[in-house]
Order: sequence, then structure tokens, then C-alpha cells
Amino acid sequence: MASEDLSAHLEFFGELGVAGVRLEPDWRDRPAAEPPPSAAPAPAPPPQDLPPPAETLEAIRADLGNCTRCKLHGLGRRQIVFGVGNPDARLMFVGEAPGADEDLQGEPFVGRAGQLLTKIIEAIGLRRQDVYIANVIKCRPPNNRNPESDEVEQCERFLFRQIDTIRPTVIVALGKFAAQSLLRTTDPITRLRGREFRYRDAILMPTYHPAYLLRTPSAKREVWGDMKRVREILKGE
Ligand code: URA
Repeated sequence: MASEDLSAHLEFFGELGVAGVRLEPDWRDRPAAEPPPSAAPAPAPPPQDLPPPAETLEAIRADLGNCTRCKLHGLGRRQIVFGVGNPDARLMFVGEAPGADEDLQGEPFVGRAGQLLTKIIEAIGLRRQDVYIANVIKCRPPNNRNPESDEVEQCERFLFRQIDTIRPTVIVALGKFAAQSLLRTTDPITRLRGREFRYRDAILMPTYHPAYLLRTPSAKREVWGDMKRVREILKGE
């Protein structure tokens, strides 16, 4: 690892509240200063012997086509940002909508927030290509405004189909918008985060959006707690 990579790595773990770097497998952990937030009763893990999914991600992408179902297609989008990663992922991340970098590159979470997300994924011993990453909304809203309800209504069905095809064990909803859309709630993210929800066949864990972490680095500690729980669930299978 180049020295600037190593110092970025250490800085990230330092901000996450990680004590230090040792070679033992648990080097990332230290006892939490506070007890973990109370979680809803742990849902049963999804059955292991599911029949093959009814459709493929390619078929869903083909159905989306050059989508004009909502007004976002005429509001400056360069391309549709469908999703990226392992179609058999056990861990899926769901964000809000593409930003400028994603709109340019055609891939979710490739800008600054995306680079932080990649570090978060790597912090639990996975690589970006091991997980699947998608957004509720597949086209960039102009000036990064919040998606509107008619846009969500047209677009979220494609996310649901992606989830039903991938059938992850854990879905991490990144930020208020993804968590509220998936859970059909208006509860604030501060109430949703730290809890586990049954969502279709998966366990859904809302956590803070990486863009929020860029503005509020102190919240990384809570996200790290959430990610350790994700790692535990994935290991427990
Ligand atoms: N923010 C999101 O919610 N999604 C992206 O793909 C990029 C930034």
C-alpha cells in the first residue's frame, strides 16, 4: 500500500473510532463507548433453498430501456444509472439517486461519497465488486434536488425487481431517502438507523448516507457500528 493510501486508511479507521492496526482478525474493533442501539427482534434468515429468480438483471435493464416514464429523462440526465456489482451479492446497498459523477460515468456511488462507501465496504473485508449497489432513482435529478413522488413511483419498481433478483441477505439503506422509500415511512433517519427490519426476504438496515458522513465525520462511528452488525449477520449464515 502506498504511504498516502496507508495514511488515508488509518485516518478512515481513526474517524470510525477504531483503536489501531494489529494483525489479529479483530484489529478493527474496540469496545463501544455506549451500548449498541436497541434493535428490533432479529428476523429469521432467509431460506437457503430458494428457486431461481424469475428474471435476470439484464432483463430488468432491457425493460428499463431508454426510460421516459418520468420527467427526469428530459431534465438533463446523460444516462441511466442502473446498478453495479455482483448479481449474487449477499449484501446490497441502496442510495437515493445519481449525482453528477454517477450521471457522467453511468455507475452509482463513484463520486466523493462513493469513494467513502467503497472504504466502508472494504472496512468489513469485502470488495466493491462483491456487493451490489443501486439507487431508488436511476436518473440524476437536476441540481441534485430531492427526487419527487411521481419519479419515485415510476422508478422504485425497478429497484424492487433488482432486489427480488439478487435476493441479498442484507440490504443497507443509505440515508433518509432510501430508508424512507423502502420502508414506506416518514420516520427520520435518526429513528430508523441502528434498527433491523424485515424487508422482502432480506434484513434491511438503515444507516447514514456517505455524503452526510463527509459533512459530519463524527457520525462515522455509528456507521461503523452498523457495518460491524452487517458483518456479523453475513458471518452468521
Ligand atoms: N448519492 C446517492 O444516493 N447515490 C449515488 O449513486 C451517488 C450519490
